[in-house]
Amino acid sequence: MTKYPSCAMMLAEVGMEYINNELCLGPLKKALLPLCANYMRPIYVYDLDFISQRYQAMKKALGSTRLFYAVKANPNVEILQHLKKLGAGADVVSLGEIKRVLESGFTVQDIVYSGVGKTRHEITEALKLGIYQINVESLPELERIGIIARELGKKASVVLRLNPDIDIKTHPYIATGLKDNKFGMELSLIPELIQCLQKHTGSIDLVGVSLHLGSMMMEFSGYQEALKTLKTIFVDLQKKFPTLKRFDFGGGVGIFYDRLDLELEESLLRDYAKITLDTLSDLNCELQSEPGRWVVGHCGVLITQVQYIKKTSAKTFVVVDSGMNHLIRPSLYEADHMIRPLVKKSESIKADIVGPICESADFFAKDRTLTSISEGDFVAVMDAGAYGYSMASIYNLQELPLEICI
Ligand SMILES: Cc1ncc(COP(=O)(O)O)c(C=O)c1O
Repeated sequence: MTKYPSCAMMLAEVGMEYINNELCLGPLKKALLPLCANYMRPIYVYDLDFISQRYQAMKKALGSTRLFYAVKANPNVEILQHLKKLGAGADVVSLGEIKRVLESGFTVQDIVYSGVGKTRHEITEALKLGIYQINVESLPELERIGIIARELGKKASVVLRLNPDIDIKTHPYIATGLKDNKFGMELSLIPELIQCLQKHTGSIDLVGVSLHLGSMMMEFSGYQEALKTLKTIFVDLQKKFPTLKRFDFGGGVGIFYDRLDLELEESLLRDYAKITLDTLSDLNCELQSEPGRWVVGHCGVLITQVQYIKKTSAKTFVVVDSGMNHLIRPSLYEADHMIRPLVKKSESIKADIVGPICESADFFAKDRTLTSISEGDFVAVMDAGAYGYSMASIYNLQELPLEICI
């Protein structure tokens, strides 16, 4: 992954996010400590003003592109309602997410339905509802959609998710555009897809092509190559299928977890947008994108309380009341979230910050230097707005965290 200069890191380290030694969140610098007045268990806090700022920045960079927020990043109802008000559509991957976004005020015309494992039941419900677009991930799925749509007397609007076998140099668990990933369809499959579409012409309209190469993309040369490849395919397909009018270039733009540098992120976003628009703007189609992390990642923190400071001959452990059960990213992806005490102190300690779960993989950070903390203090795991609560579990029968929108 590309390394960026450390000046931004220094800004974060000098405590830009603290006012009067109290940790604050978002553009309006909202204090977090008052939210712990009646603390019962770990809390995800999301700042809706911060989400507005990020969404608007992405909207501005991508011009007339229609944004479908990737609900998997964070399906909190208030966040969904907020994004709907801002004009977003929703990218969903299950019937559960379809129900959640409909309950949150989205209409079926706002929904793009992706995912490799859509069941017969899910496809039937999606077609009955008249979902705007189904992003197809395999030939048997296309066949299944054709059969079910015919039985229901419906016409499905489908987009082919193509897999160009391109490496965006991200963590292997979040790469999706390589040929050994389960996502999308190999380009060599296109002749068979065309045959299948022609067979189901009465029940399927091909309305677009889509691409998603993975998450945490910080460098865009592979992405640009993929766009060019898909553009050629789009133009060829459009000659055979006049209904083809949407190009969905996915989500995946990354954020920094080891620092807060919104300016650098916006500048990277502009690079990404320029590559996208320069490559695709002469196509005769609507552009779509499915951002998740970039919109909500920085806008949430996970607040947890220190239970014990445990010293062994090898190291110091700060044991908190939240762990991999609430935020699995450090354990699963070796993600390096910043950790900040809600009240800043001057001394510092070096420790592992670990949770209560019976796994040695249950840690938020290893050998981390923190400003000194004691039992009972609150700390915030920063940048936990995306893939935090949505991946939480009840492992060890620990309760799920609370969620608060501010
Ligand atoms: C198909 C698809 N679209 C969009 C996203 C959102 O990606 P991100 O949150 O990195 O923007 C994902 C995430 O894995 C995805 O699989």
